[in-house]
Amino acid sequence: MEPIRKVAIVGAGLVGRGWAIVFARAGHEVDIYDGNADIRATVMERIRGSLSDMHSAGLVDAVEPVMRRLAVRESLEAAISDADYIQESVLEVRDVKEAVCLEIDRAMRANAVVGSSSSGIPASAFTESCANRSRFLIAHPVNPPYLIPLVELVPAPWTDPDVVPWLRHEMEAVGQAAIVVRKEVEGFVLNRLQGALLNEAWALLEEGVASAADIDLTVSHGLGYRWSFMGPFETIDLNAPGGIADYARRLGPLYHSIARSRTKPDPWSGKLIRKAEEERREKLAASGLAERSAWRDRNLMALVAYKRRSKA
Ligand SMILES: NC(=O)c1ccc[n+]([C@@H]2O[C@H](COP(=O)([O-])OP(=O)(O)OC[C@H]3O[C@@H](n4cnc5c(N)ncnc54)[C@H](O)[C@@H]3O)[C@@H](O)[C@H]2O)c1
Repeated sequence: MEPIRKVAIVGAGLVGRGWAIVFARAGHEVDIYDGNADIRATVMERIRGSLSDMHSAGLVDAVEPVMRRLAVRESLEAAISDADYIQESVLEVRDVKEAVCLEIDRAMRANAVVGSSSSGIPASAFTESCANRSRFLIAHPVNPPYLIPLVELVPAPWTDPDVVPWLRHEMEAVGQAAIVVRKEVEGFVLNRLQGALLNEAWALLEEGVASAADIDLTVSHGLGYRWSFMGPFETIDLNAPGGIADYARRLGPLYHSIARSRTKPDPWSGKLIRKAEEERREKLAASGLAERSAWRDRNLMALVAYKRRSKA
């Protein structure tokens, strides 16, 4: 399979815009289409704003050369007909994904590849009727993909096996870190890991073991320090003198006992959500959420710059 030259973005909300930056920053020509005319009219300025912030943080050399590789098209066909790779990022609703994939299917080149940003709906749930279904798979990013590089590649049972290593290589070539999810499991890998931590956090809050603030601190000033450059297996490999098997011998029984105490998970109840909401709003008024999100993004940019320098 040939390297990507031309990319199309279908759906230019939060995630589609982020993908446009990823591909244009790496030197690809990118055509953008969104079904909403207001989004089409404003997407370039929003992208320019993100690129300016990245420029200030030293993450892109210049804004305008990246902008020149981007174009907004007025129809889906115009955006995708000569694309080698199409990134679909429309709403997370099965029927919407199916409808847009059928539209893409009719207009795409037969040998193009289509990655869907779906956070949890597997490709087999919405690409079965596509004539080119062997060219479709999930390419699930983390938001924003131009700052957090992970992408989960999840093929459907009918995805051409050559497409997966090809897209992994192409994603790495544009600076992303790709993983392959070998089976279509709900939530893929990232949201299953995130869900395990979240479910335990809610349970600890409900049981009054610690406040939401202290549970957050456990991650921000504890576990999270290592997690920005190593995962759970490498962490435990380094946390016992004899490595991972030694760690498993020492602490396996503790983790087994904890897991056995959580065999009947409850849904997150309204009462529990109110408790967390009250504590969070005391700490941060709803009017401060946007500013705090901008603070998060500035921190993320500084972390990205540091990781680049240190190759962590
Ligand atoms: N927000 C996140 O943190 C995040 C992270 C990873 C993956 N995702 C996934 O990315 C996808 C997009 O999410 P988002 O947060 O960008 O949503 P969003 O609501 O910001 O953007 C969706 C865009 O799709 C457009 N759209 C809807 N139907 C369309 C159609 N038929 N043709 C063209 N455009 C259409 C909408 O106008 C909108 O601009 C979802 O599948 C979501 O689960 C989101």
